[in-house]
Amino acid sequence: MPQTYDVVVIGAGPGGYIAAVRAAQLGFKVACVEKWRNPKGERALGGTCLNVGCIPSKALLGSSEEFEKVRHHLGEHGIAVEGVKLDLAKMLARKDAIVSKMTKGVEFLFRKNKIAWLKGHGRFVGAEDGAFRIEVLDDAGEGAAASAPQLVDAVNVIIATGSKARHLPGVPVDNQLVCDNEGALAIPEVPKRLGVIGAGVIGLELGSVWRRLGAEVTILEALPTFLGATDGGVQKEAWKLLTKQGLKIHLGVKLGAVHAGKRGVKVEWTDDKGAAQVLECDRLVVSVGRVPNTDGLGLESIGLSVDERGFIPVDDHCRTAVPNVWAVGDVVRGPMLAHKAEDEGVMVAELIAGQKPHIDYNCIPWVIYTSPEIAWVGRTEEQLKAEGRAYKAGQFPFSINGRALGVGAPEGFVKVLADAATDEVLGVHVVSAAASDLVAEAALAMEFKASAEDIGRVCHPHPSMSEVLREAALAATDKRALNM
Ligand code: FAD
Ligand code: NAI
Repeated sequence: MPQTYDVVVIGAGPGGYIAAVRAAQLGFKVACVEKWRNPKGERALGGTCLNVGCIPSKALLGSSEEFEKVRHHLGEHGIAVEGVKLDLAKMLARKDAIVSKMTKGVEFLFRKNKIAWLKGHGRFVGAEDGAFRIEVLDDAGEGAAASAPQLVDAVNVIIATGSKARHLPGVPVDNQLVCDNEGALAIPEVPKRLGVIGAGVIGLELGSVWRRLGAEVTILEALPTFLGATDGGVQKEAWKLLTKQGLKIHLGVKLGAVHAGKRGVKVEWTDDKGAAQVLECDRLVVSVGRVPNTDGLGLESIGLSVDERGFIPVDDHCRTAVPNVWAVGDVVRGPMLAHKAEDEGVMVAELIAGQKPHIDYNCIPWVIYTSPEIAWVGRTEEQLKAEGRAYKAGQFPFSINGRALGVGAPEGFVKVLADAATDEVLGVHVVSAAASDLVAEAALAMEFKASAEDIGRVCHPHPSMSEVLREAALAATDKRALNM
């Protein structure tokens, strides 16, 4: 007879593994199905985020930022460095070691919380007597014979199968010459010329990595606007700073044929004035968004279907149309972010336990880890205008903050948007080396429905980058920033 679990999670990315841990903390008998194999062919937990997403990209962003600093910015501190050399193999090995440490950390959490890791591809094969039957197919690795599928029963199932890179018709990705995120995180030598399709989050982050390491990076973006979802002021500042660093970004591009040959890749494209152009590059990165993973999940066997974009439809509490089947993370609506997936995983585990958790999707922060970082939470000015909401804006630059000057990070600003009548904080937008941390304070304030004056009245450490958030909040309250 198949083993019965209270909760079976399919997928061990940040949505799935966190859901499994929280469910185990709440006393449930939990299993998690995960099929990932790393490039060495070893099974690994952690999903896209730990294996080929957040963690390796931030490792390379960190390393490449150090390289850039040593080559271009230590001089202003009076530090002369000679003979700087890049050991890319070592840099990539450091990234791989960080990934391994993090994925092994999830294995430890599974052991600690007594979560069974079912290795292989999971799919529904029907439901009987109030339980869902799930088949786990272990492909046993390259060249080896597949073992018989394992069957388990689950009272509750959490689908957390995540997403994969969207590819373009006529642009075959081999992760050698033409790469998606997986190949772009492991290019073995710095390309002289790197082409990137898509000036979204991956294009800007990984484009920045390879530019800092010495590549000439050209990004082709279909939309006529840059970072269209961000606040207008942020768009302008980010465009100014990133193009000044040397990223060549073309907007309003219409992509034509892409030819990958022995000596590189040729991309035909039409510019925003309708003129035909050709981009010749040594490698090409395709970063045009991601699509949800629902292939071979057997959803039809339990009467569940996906929407027209392939997402599993869920309500605000991640309930699917089938009772006791839940879905979280990239496979459902909302931003494709690791922390959003994690919070949904926690929420679902707590709902299964009969608790009453809730996520305020308006308070989910975004960070783009360029240098400086770009981060925001809540509404943009453009959204507030479109909604007809009366608001006040306060902005403060890092260029006159003592800490920012001391650490050599004077670029960017904080903008606080608050309701004109109540002073409630509606949105916070940050361009800064410290944006990823500052936006967390802003999210906390918004979760507690703080007013701009509340942030302005909280004692912030001096000197610190966080003083800029306080000053921007004071500027929003009634134009009373103290240092400007
Ligand atoms: P995933 O992490 O995609 O995990 C899903 C897991 O399910 C996978 O391991 C997959 O193997 C497994 N799976 C799928 N189908 C099955 C099946 N049938 N049976 C068994 N297992 C299955 N987000 C951030 O918040 N911050 C960042 O800095 C950031 N950087 C990123 C950088 C890159 C290059 C990329 C590509 C993404 C980045 N993201 C970042 C996005 C983030 O990685 C995702 O939002 C997050 O991983 C989604 O979590 P998830 O649990 O929904 O899915
Ligand atoms: P994206 O949605 O951020 O950007 C894709 C870009 O490609 C868009 O600007 C789009 O207009 C453009 N595009 C689409 N089709 C095109 C075409 N044919 N020609 C030219 N341009 C085209 O997607 P991306 O960068 O692939 O990242 C996927 C997701 O992964 C992100 O949306 C985000 O959710 C997540 N992510 C998050 C990170 C973070 O939080 N720091 C880092 C990296 C990824």
